[in-house]
Amino acid sequence: MRTVLRAFGLLICLVPVFITSAVAEATFSFDATPGKLPKTVVPRQYRIRLHPDTQALTTTGTVEAELDVLKPVTEVVFNALELEISKVTLDGSAPAAVTPHPESQTVSVTSGRILEPGKHRLQIDFRGRIGRQPVGLYAEKYRVGGVEKQMLGTQMEPTDARRVFPCWDEPVFRAKFGLTVVVPRGEVAVSNMPVESERPGTEGRREVTFADTPPMASYLVVLCMGELEQLTGEVDGVKLGIWTTAGKRSQAAYAMEATRKIVHDYNEYFGVKYPLPKLDQIAVPGGFGGAMENWGGITYNEKNLLFDPATSSQETRERIFIIVAHEIAHQWFGNLVTMAWWDNLWLNEGFASWMETKCTDRNNPEWQVWLRANAGKESAMNLDARRATHPIQQTVRTESQAMDAFDEITYLKGQGFIRMLESYLGEEVFRKGIRIYMARHAYGSTTTADLWAALEEASGKPVAAIAGGWTTRPGFPLVTVSSRDSGGRTEVTLRQERFLVGNPAPPGEPWQIPLSVGRADRAPEARALLFEKASGSVSLSVPPGAPLKINLGNAGFYRGAYSPELAKAQAAVFPNLAAEDRVNLLCDAWALVEAGRGDVGAFLDLVAALGPEETSFVIWDTVIHDLGILNRMEKGKSGQPAFERWARERLKVPLQRLGWTPKPGESSNDALLRAALITSLGTLGDPGVVAEARERFARFLKDPSTLPPDLRTPVCLIVGRHADAATWEQLRSLARATDSTEERDR
Ligand code: BES
Ligand code: ZN
Repeated sequence: MRTVLRAFGLLICLVPVFITSAVAEATFSFDATPGKLPKTVVPRQYRIRLHPDTQALTTTGTVEAELDVLKPVTEVVFNALELEISKVTLDGSAPAAVTPHPESQTVSVTSGRILEPGKHRLQIDFRGRIGRQPVGLYAEKYRVGGVEKQMLGTQMEPTDARRVFPCWDEPVFRAKFGLTVVVPRGEVAVSNMPVESERPGTEGRREVTFADTPPMASYLVVLCMGELEQLTGEVDGVKLGIWTTAGKRSQAAYAMEATRKIVHDYNEYFGVKYPLPKLDQIAVPGGFGGAMENWGGITYNEKNLLFDPATSSQETRERIFIIVAHEIAHQWFGNLVTMAWWDNLWLNEGFASWMETKCTDRNNPEWQVWLRANAGKESAMNLDARRATHPIQQTVRTESQAMDAFDEITYLKGQGFIRMLESYLGEEVFRKGIRIYMARHAYGSTTTADLWAALEEASGKPVAAIAGGWTTRPGFPLVTVSSRDSGGRTEVTLRQERFLVGNPAPPGEPWQIPLSVGRADRAPEARALLFEKASGSVSLSVPPGAPLKINLGNAGFYRGAYSPELAKAQAAVFPNLAAEDRVNLLCDAWALVEAGRGDVGAFLDLVAALGPEETSFVIWDTVIHDLGILNRMEKGKSGQPAFERWARERLKVPLQRLGWTPKPGESSNDALLRAALITSLGTLGDPGVVAEARERFARFLKDPSTLPPDLRTPVCLIVGRHADAATWEQLRSLARATDSTEERDR
């Protein structure tokens, strides 16, 4: 491509501008799905036997794969990585050659004769390694009351099942997995399916065989093994289990309660019942990432699953619900219906991110999680406003590109776009489309085009055409809004362009924007339209000078820039606006400052206007974030002390209202707001707050129960930030002594 560019110069450079929207993605086709493995041989069923040696950190194993040969072939190609393959048989006899290709992480088995279409059998004996990092099969060390222990876990997604056993490790190759594991005395093993049978092995070991999974992608296989305890439960006929290391079972009660609500909710929403007989969730201590949605056996870093009412914060309570809701959403969106290839990863992650918020909101409306999700949207927009961003759907060729796809664009722009689309199509219509999609593609693979087809069927609207600009092109629009009097009505002029940090974007194709516009202070009178042109106007029956706003309710993935008259009218009614609209105006104003297109003074005036009546955590959290950026930019300059003083005066106003001591039965908003304000004031070096934090820390050291869970993080953080050597040692020994990951992180 690069040579072509050089040869043809400018002419070729212009071409991509025209072809971008012309390449609409096709619906799923097995043969057209990208990947390295040939589509001529497909696995239907694996029988895998693993014997881990937890001391030597090696495994010996065998895989027996039942294959369907679709076209005559002379070789069989599958994935294997860092596996020592000792013996291979194909239909019971030794093949002509077994050739590893480490560069492509594949192995080819040459048969020596033609394999005719139909059933064939491949058997492989191998040895593998058990790592210390969550990649493939790994060992996690942890302590119970000072004694060192170890458990095994797996992390296969995106492409590490091939390190644990040879397999067709691309998501489109769905097969049944039947796993047998040799388990040491005193330990239990958990996998995707219930235990089907057990028989005694040597030296007190047991050989545990799990029931076959339904046809599924290899990245969803799980195996955890160790001295684990289980809390059991049940919902809608599904057996639930939460597994913890010794002594922590009681901390699983909260996640169990959340799981019951969430599974029940999704059974209803998706119109297809949770398809496996059981759902286990495993709390892994130590360094494991966030969580992983293995079908029927979800793994979590224990800080995202375990809740101790005596020490865990409101923030942790909410985070656990959200993460559990995310991973359980994948049991349908991702596991039952799977993206054909990693270029459509957003179908998994964008959808689960949206669903986690929707489900959490339905079950805990007082947490206001949609309002809170604004922070994630801002962070995605922040990346997407840069030239180095990429579209939601992107080409993936290599394993590391598959890993790279797990980013904020995939998760958060994905979530933001689905939210906008749902709000445009309507909640009921959208759900109808999702039910069509689930029913049609259960146990199958899809592309984004399949989702649009189902939503088009449900809505009668051209969803694929609307969505194209949002998922296949980088960036998002800025809509400039101005208004003028037109005979008692108001004519609103709208203009869209790509929102880019720095220089304005060159003109490009407009987005189809599901846009709302109306009085900022009376949202019910809003107009919803699809704004598809570079510019246009709408006539509204509101008096001239009314405080008009776009993106009412903040469900859109675009920004607004307002004429000075409109900005002034908005400022006059700002305290009366819904929190969603207040935070949206504040964030759009700040984004324009960051992009070098807005006046920082005007933004700070908005902040200065927030009085004691501003009680929203999300608003203050936004302000804290933005002031933090300004403060870092001021660092070392002569104006910094004055800026810090000014910022502290602003943040003290809401803290004075709340006070340091949590009130019984107070809202989640107030608990989070207090923690955020104290943390920020402490970080800004407020002498009163630092002194108070030190005093409370001293009391906490004598009697931990004196420090309420929600103040523990702020107090530790402030004391740590302003620590002398002795205090730092105290913090370090606290971290070393605890068995709780939440507390150690703190
Ligand atoms: N499927 C991911 C786990 C994952 C992440 C696998 C990156 C491979 C690479 C899982 O559903 C997930 O998104 N986990 C998040 C937490 C989630 C609640 C946002 C994580 O681990 O950060
Ligand atoms: Zn996910």
